[in-house]
Amino acid sequence: MIRAGVRVGVGRYNEARPLYRSPHFGSVDNPTAERRTIHLGIDLFVEPGTAVKAPLEGVVHVLANNPAPQDYGALVILRHQTSDREEFFTLYGHLGQETLRGLKVGQRISGGQAFGRVGTSRENGGWPPHVHFQIILDLLNLGAAFPGVAYASERAVWTGLSPDPNLLLGIPKDRFPAEERQAQEALEKRRVLLGKNLSLSYERPLKIVRGWMQYLYDDTGRAYLDVYNNVPLVGHSHPRVVRAVREQVALINTNTRYLHDKVIRYAERLTEKLPEPLRVCFFVNSGSEANELALRLARAHTGREDVIVLEHAYHGHTNTLVDISPYKFNGPGGQGKKPWVHVAPLPDDYRGRYRRDDREAGARYAGHVREILERTRGKGRDVALFVAESLPSVGGQIVFPPGYLQEV
Ligand SMILES: Cc1ncc(COP(=O)(O)O)c(C=O)c1O
Repeated sequence: MIRAGVRVGVGRYNEARPLYRSPHFGSVDNPTAERRTIHLGIDLFVEPGTAVKAPLEGVVHVLANNPAPQDYGALVILRHQTSDREEFFTLYGHLGQETLRGLKVGQRISGGQAFGRVGTSRENGGWPPHVHFQIILDLLNLGAAFPGVAYASERAVWTGLSPDPNLLLGIPKDRFPAEERQAQEALEKRRVLLGKNLSLSYERPLKIVRGWMQYLYDDTGRAYLDVYNNVPLVGHSHPRVVRAVREQVALINTNTRYLHDKVIRYAERLTEKLPEPLRVCFFVNSGSEANELALRLARAHTGREDVIVLEHAYHGHTNTLVDISPYKFNGPGGQGKKPWVHVAPLPDDYRGRYRRDDREAGARYAGHVREILERTRGKGRDVALFVAESLPSVGGQIVFPPGYLQEV
């Protein structure tokens, strides 16, 4: 807030927040079970000690201290009446303890009267100082236990009971970021605007808005254990990775036409870990570019064209890589195998023709590659490249039997 030069920060109503980790927001034993995430108030972040004024005339209805971590600390609920005598309530959480000492249940508060102060982090449930302001149409006799954060599956009920507090606060609309699209709307837009070849997982597609460590979070704040995404090898949003990317983008993002120490240092550190003769780096942006380049190097070096691949392999999405990926050329919309591509059996010692009880399984699977090589040479062609994923992925996360790659 200091950096942005603002005196008041706003935490939004009806916002899904995965940050409520203490036990009273849901099960702690199962981090992927539904937890309460939907914020039913508006938070106003200000200096501790800032006066809190009543927006309307009312009566002190509840005074309470909810001291658990991430709870309200000191809490005041005022009771109001509309002009046609309908009762409703306003709730103020995370106040200073002295607010409670200065008030009595039943006390009249006039509109605009300062009746409390914003608490410090030590007394407000451990939060950065702010007041949580919420409108409640029916308190359901819950008193201080009325939720300020709801389960997403009960969102309609609780936002019905607690409408948008901006009805009273009147913060200009342009101070809020653009509203996020609901998953259904995002799905409809995606169908119109993005290529239909992109597959979407699950009957009810997930709208994933955040990743942190081993979890992905959807637009309701629900956590999912990510055992599927293959990109963030050190977990999602690893702080060191985030910092390094941020710092570099802020400094320079250019190409290899110029000298730069970091690219040299990176190559040194990588090649230190690689066996001879792997001593030269080509930096690319994706797996597809890497495999495309490997194929080009092999063809340029050997002057040959043919490629041996494994069953079910996937090597990337360029035209040529689709041609050497049985998963693609045999899959939906695939064009079949090209004459310069030769497919060797997947060395799967669990389901394949040679099993784990066979100590020679690796050598036997490698024997099929030799056969292909001989057959190809017999036809007056020759092989430029044998390519295999080190752990065939769409093939079933297969670990090669011992000795397979050496033998090949
Ligand atoms: C085994 C394998 N090879 C190649 C690729 C292609 O990489 P990219 O999507 O970065 O082009 C992938 C991508 O998932 C892959 O899983």
